[in-house]
Amino acid sequence: MEKVTINTLKEMKKAGEKIASLTAYDANFARILDEARVDIILVGDSLGMVLQGEATTLKVSMNDMIYHTRLVKRGCQRAMIVADMPFMSYATPAQALGNAARLVSEGGAEVIKLEGGSVVADTVRHLNEYGIPVCAHLGLTPQSIHKFGGYHVQGREQKTATQIMNDAELLEEAGAVMLVLECIPQQLAADITKKMTIPVIGIGAGSKCDGQVLVLYDILGITERQPRFSKNFLESATSVKAAIENYITAVKSVHFPTADHQFD
Ligand code: KIV
Repeated sequence: MEKVTINTLKEMKKAGEKIASLTAYDANFARILDEARVDIILVGDSLGMVLQGEATTLKVSMNDMIYHTRLVKRGCQRAMIVADMPFMSYATPAQALGNAARLVSEGGAEVIKLEGGSVVADTVRHLNEYGIPVCAHLGLTPQSIHKFGGYHVQGREQKTATQIMNDAELLEEAGAVMLVLECIPQQLAADITKKMTIPVIGIGAGSKCDGQVLVLYDILGITERQPRFSKNFLESATSVKAAIENYITAVKSVHFPTADHQFD
């Protein structure tokens, strides 16, 4: 069993091999995902919505994230573990360093993910200098939901598209090791993916990204409303494990996402 690291993902990008990622929040699902050979397990703050039943991710605490990351760590041997920094846990570089260090040392995260563009560039640089690798997250960033006024596709206007592209370049330059693009037009995501040397993982960002991530509860049809960019893989499978394997195969063979799951 070869552990997936950031170097593995960089090699996959270079080789044009698609990266498959799913969220998980506990040891048993982490084990199933790991056995199915998912490349990245994301302990997302989406847990505020899918586990805790909140309408947004904004109430998730640092202790919640550490707790769920620790559970995932217990079930996972091969996949890389990325964990979200919750809302307002990284408002300054110093605050971010203290909280990210907890997520790594107490939770077992290997990479931490935070949302935002130029405003977090200094924080990304600071964490990187202290040896904590950062995954950036641009586009529809759920922690800014009240600024966006809803879960809408971002980057459709030239001005916001340019902003997202510039932010992506700035964050790579600041030392981000990976980038998540959420709900942006597929052509913009394709252009960013081509420009970046770091792996770019899309969710509602089209098939040209280096990889895909979805919320586990969405692909298992557990969540009340399925986002358009997601797909219920359990409907056509005979078990949870088969559904997860089918998702990974679909990502790797570029059969997911299709035109139905992306935006122009
Ligand atoms: O919190 C989460 O699950 C995420 C993904 C949807 C990208 O950030």
